[in-house]
Amino acid sequence: MLRKVREADDLAAIHAILSDPQAMAFWSTVPHENEDQTRAWLCAMAATQPDEGDDFIIEYQGRAVGKAGFFRFPDIGYIIDPALWGQGLVSEALTPIIDRAFAVHRLAQITADVDPRNTASVRLLEKLGFAETHRAERTWLIGGAWCDSIYFALTDQDWAARTA
Ligand SMILES: CC(C)(COP(=O)(O)OP(=O)(O)OC[C@H]1O[C@@H](n2cnc3c(N)ncnc32)[C@H](O)[C@@H]1OP(=O)(O)O)[C@@H](O)C(=O)NCCC(=O)NCCS
Repeated sequence: MLRKVREADDLAAIHAILSDPQAMAFWSTVPHENEDQTRAWLCAMAATQPDEGDDFIIEYQGRAVGKAGFFRFPDIGYIIDPALWGQGLVSEALTPIIDRAFAVHRLAQITADVDPRNTASVRLLEKLGFAETHRAERTWLIGGAWCDSIYFALTDQDWAARTA
C-alpha cells in the first residue's frame, strides 16, 4: 500500500533502509549516518507542497519498507528494503504513481537519473516504458567518488499508448 509519510512513525524503518550501504549503493548521497539525517529527509518529504512533488511511503505487511514518487517533479525516485528486492513491489507501487502524475498533476513527462551500474533500476524503468534520452559522465560526486548518469524519460503519450 502507498501512503503519505508520518515522520515520527516512519523514522526507524526508513532510517534502517537509508543507512544500509547495499540499498544506498547508487543513491545520490552516501548512507545516512544517524537518525537526525533521516528525520530531516522525512520532514522535507512531508513539507513538499502538492505543486512541487508527490511522494509516498511503501507499506508492506504493516511496515514501512521504502518510498516511491516525486520529491520534486518531474524526477521520479524510489528505494525499497533489500530484503524485498526482485518481488515486483516497486513496479507495482510506481504504476498508480505514474498514472496520477499524468492524470492529476498533468506532467508532460517523467524523468529519471540512474547510475549505469544500477541494473535493477535501469531494468525497472525499461519495464515501465521509460526510454533512455542521453548519458553523461561524472555527474555526481558521492563520498569522494564520481558517478555517471543515464537519463530516462516517459511521456504522457508513451504511457497512454502503453496502458490503452
Ligand atoms: C531499484 C529498486 C527500487 C528495484 O525494486 P524491486 O522491487 O526489486 O523491483 P522489481 O521487483 O519491481 O523489479 C523490476 C525489474 O528489475 C529487475 N531486478 C530487480 N532486482 C535486480 C537486480 N538486483 N539485478 C538485475 N535486475 C533486477 C527485476 O527482475 C525486474 O525485471 P523483470 O520483471 O524483467 O524480471 C531496488 O533495487 C532498490 O531499492 N534499489 C536501491 C535504491 C535505488 O537504487 N533506487 C534507484 C535510484 S535511481
